[in-house]
Amino acid sequence: MKDGREVLSSLVSSQIALHAAHGGVVPDLAARAHLEAIGPVVDEALTAVGGWGSIDAVAVTRGPGLAGCLLVGTLYAQGAAVARGLPIVGVSHMAGHVYSAWLSDTSLEPPYLALVVSGGHSDVVELRDHGDAVRLMSTRDDAAGEAFDKAARLLGLGYPGGPLVERAARGGDPARFPLPSTRLPDAMSFSGLKTALRYTIRDLGSDALTAEGTPRDFAVVSDLAAAFQAAVVGQLVHALSVCADRRGAERLVVVGGVAANTALREAVRGHFAGLPVTVPPLLLCTDNAAMIGAAGWHRLRLRGSDAAGISVDPTLDQYA
Ligand code: KG4
Ligand code: ZN
Repeated sequence: MKDGREVLSSLVSSQIALHAAHGGVVPDLAARAHLEAIGPVVDEALTAVGGWGSIDAVAVTRGPGLAGCLLVGTLYAQGAAVARGLPIVGVSHMAGHVYSAWLSDTSLEPPYLALVVSGGHSDVVELRDHGDAVRLMSTRDDAAGEAFDKAARLLGLGYPGGPLVERAARGGDPARFPLPSTRLPDAMSFSGLKTALRYTIRDLGSDALTAEGTPRDFAVVSDLAAAFQAAVVGQLVHALSVCADRRGAERLVVVGGVAANTALREAVRGHFAGLPVTVPPLLLCTDNAAMIGAAGWHRLRLRGSDAAGISVDPTLDQYA
């Protein structure tokens, strides 16, 4: 990263194929795969900018996430920073998502409202100023991405669920199987929707289901996927709308892996037609290091380098 906003080199090493065989993320396998990938990926990313000699500072994710994976990253980054005498900052993964919008849209400055929707989080956050964020709303139970992943399993679509549900929903009829559209005044909730999907599938009857209990007929899968996606998207737009009204927001962004969802992107743009809405390109929506660089650049500028011994925090609750 240069000056926090210019991406000179960005690589993502995906573990999707590794975990797909197990239907979800296996923590021990994830940490081991991190350990194997981190050296080669960092080396390759640095090749494009002339190696470590051109680096002035290091940013690394310290949470939230799986402890084993966070340890691999922070220990590697601290080793590299100490060896070369570079400043280092520990960054929140969620701050990275909030800053992915700032990174992708050079006209965007705080204050702005962010709908942060990933595999582990569904939040509405206000970035009041650089380094100063407050969470306005979050989910009571499952995250939106987690809900997509569970729905995909119930529908027999595989892992990761979001893109597969989105693809299956294309051309589906969202009205054929009514699913509840949850609307809470101060929170989001996706577990009731998931249970409703489970019972709707069960009630199709055993003749309509495979031995694994998933619908045989792809038209049914497609209609259920469309109904599920519409229910999730409707609730997310509602949550963002409640917070935007309450705060009198003038700029909105949608970030995190679920922001890759076309139906969500279009629904937000349609609903808030009068407000500028930033949704980063797909590669900045799903997990990436560039967004950590952007959030880290502000953190270093505002708070200076962290002391030696950055600790990981698997439940870190920080958005800037
Ligand atoms: O931000 P992210 O890459 O990783 C986490 O920090 O969790 O988000 C991953 C989540 C997964 O649950 C995945 O199913 C979901 O984002 N996702 C999607 C789509 N692409 C990824 N959900 C809905 N539609 C998509 N196209
Ligand atoms: Zn993420």
